[in-house]
Amino acid sequence: MGGHGWPIDHLGVAVADLDAAVSAWSRLGFVPEVTEVLPAEQIRVAFLPGPAGELELMEPMGPDGAVAKFLAKRGPGLHHVAFRVPSVAEALSVLQGEGVRLVDARPRPGSRGTLVAFLHPSALNGVLVELVEVRREQ
Ligand code: CO
Repeated sequence: MGGHGWPIDHLGVAVADLDAAVSAWSRLGFVPEVTEVLPAEQIRVAFLPGPAGELELMEPMGPDGAVAKFLAKRGPGLHHVAFRVPSVAEALSVLQGEGVRLVDARPRPGSRGTLVAFLHPSALNGVLVELVEVRREQ
């Protein structure tokens, strides 16, 4: 891939209670900008912008989604690191060529009109990595 990596877009945090989590992080000065329901992921999310990237607080809406399973197994905590890339499709094709294990073979819709894809944590020291492409023409 070359270069110097990608800027961090956000840190994803799994929480059991979104309102309580928002209130906890507000003590550090973070204020939610957007709250959104992602039916495909079965989560409710709040984005809290910061000067060097956002926090994404994710609360499961039922027992079946990946975040619910993460919470059940590991409790609340850091869930993923998201990097902003110019093109998720291009990044995936390069990473696939590098032999990086992917969760998503192709980009899919993320929150706020973005395109996203996840890389498998086994490829990156146990860290679940999300790639985010912000589409300007919304
Ligand atoms: Co995310």
